[in-house]
Amino acid sequence: MSKNFAVIGNPIEQSRSPELHHAFAKKMGIELSYTKRLAPLDGFIANINDFFSQGGTGLNVTVPFKEQAFQQCTVLTSRAKIAKAVNTLWMENGQLHGDNTDGQGLVDAINGLNWKLENSRILIIGAGGATRGVIYPLIQAGVQEIVIVNRTLARAEQLVDDLKNAIPNIKLRAISLQDLTGNFDLVINATSASLTGDSLTLPDHLHFKYAYEMAYGKPSTFLDQAKIRDIPTSEGYGMLVGQAIESFSIWHGVRPNLKDFI
Ligand code: ATR
Repeated sequence: MSKNFAVIGNPIEQSRSPELHHAFAKKMGIELSYTKRLAPLDGFIANINDFFSQGGTGLNVTVPFKEQAFQQCTVLTSRAKIAKAVNTLWMENGQLHGDNTDGQGLVDAINGLNWKLENSRILIIGAGGATRGVIYPLIQAGVQEIVIVNRTLARAEQLVDDLKNAIPNIKLRAISLQDLTGNFDLVINATSASLTGDSLTLPDHLHFKYAYEMAYGKPSTFLDQAKIRDIPTSEGYGMLVGQAIESFSIWHGVRPNLKDFI
């Protein structure tokens, strides 16, 4: 009998996870069922309990439940502990296990573009959950320094303080949008601006070699400004595929090749 998987969120209709996991399964010769689950905003825990009590094998978790999923797990990977959010759940020996594959998905997508992360200086715009989830995997990939810039400086400062406690010796600092200047290898837009149709303005004296937008399939004023600078850019579809591959490899022990799916 094939194993059952699902992605759970609210809303969930937009999720590409079922098509990705079915495509990976086909390529790897694995039989599985992967569905979408719409959980009521106050019904996440009951929904995951139902799923696992009915013999479900693994769940992906998306907005707005990643922090609740983190709270529910009895066993967590280090990267999930640092992210304080979980996007991949499974049961093992009767215990709910959780991981966060978003950051490794970003690292794999950037490596797939042949942009060098080792010894690089990175600017991340935004200080929400999306930023939090990618810091540790970027550091593990050899990034030398990360600067976080946010519209609300206090939020970036709080994130930096917290991550400095969690990751010893990390080179990380927060700056305000007004102080945004200097040279970076890579700039990552981790704000929700493109998702909500807001524009982001980058100052002329900010210089960088590559630009990565975490959103995909939306107009991005961030990428427009990078393109004017004539530098390589990418939107976040590769990251989406990368996090899905990482979840798939946790559940199935085999790893599809990112290049086959982007
Ligand atoms: P996520 O979990 O996707 O990171 P979030 O926690 O709501 O979502 O964080 C959204 C991020 O996008 C925040 O850093 C937010 O800035 P504030 O902390 O100042 O709110 C940022 N953001 C959203 N809209 C923005 C805009 N129009 N311009 C600049 N930053 C924006």
